Amino acid sequence: MQVIGFDVFGTLVDPAGIAEPLRPFAGDGTGALVAEWRRSQLEYAFRRAAMGRYQPFDRVTRGALDRALAVTGIDIPEADREDLVAAWTRLPAFPDAAPALDSLRARGHRCLAFSNGTAKGLQALLDHAGLASRLDDVLSVETVGTYKPAPAVYDHLVATGGADRNATWLVSGNAWDVIGAGSTGLATAWLQRDERKPFDPWDYTPDQVVATLTRLAELPPFSDA
Ligand code: LAC
Repeated sequence: MQVIGFDVFGTLVDPAGIAEPLRPFAGDGTGALVAEWRRSQLEYAFRRAAMGRYQPFDRVTRGALDRALAVTGIDIPEADREDLVAAWTRLPAFPDAAPALDSLRARGHRCLAFSNGTAKGLQALLDHAGLASRLDDVLSVETVGTYKPAPAVYDHLVATGGADRNATWLVSGNAWDVIGAGSTGLATAWLQRDERKPFDPWDYTPDQVVATLTRLAELPPFSDA
């Protein structure tokens, strides 16, 4: 049995879905706003981890929206901004997420969601995306009070998952997440959804690279239960 921690945003669910509720406000500027919001969201989480000043992910996401609006010069009324933050709990699942979780669990592996999101936000998101019932557990960094890629959060995955470190996997579409997990000794799989996007140049190579989540169940050690 392997314990598999799945990143959520960019791995199980598609953050690009945030464009839909933004479009009525941002029009042609939607693409630029989505990119700036996501970039600021990650940067703010990384900065809070580095500073030791944890704030829940929905608050980080709100601060990042305010910044993205200031940077792009797009205005959205205050009253609508919290609704847009809440829209992060209504993102769609990637189509390969459900079948991949089903086949990995059928082979006896333990599948967990493992994310920078808040416990409450993740539960709502994974319920809405139809994935909650396909997971053995949902782990939020909130329990640890910092963000990936801080080592303490990957230690939390190992401690909660119940397997040895080298039988505990982080599966993520985010290279920075894979590198963070690998640097604490976890096994890693990088989900390369876009073949034109290379892995970060780094002194680390993921244990597996897959183009889809469903491919995982075909590879050792996942293929042998
Ligand atoms: C997650 C985001 C940061 O942890 O990808 O789910």
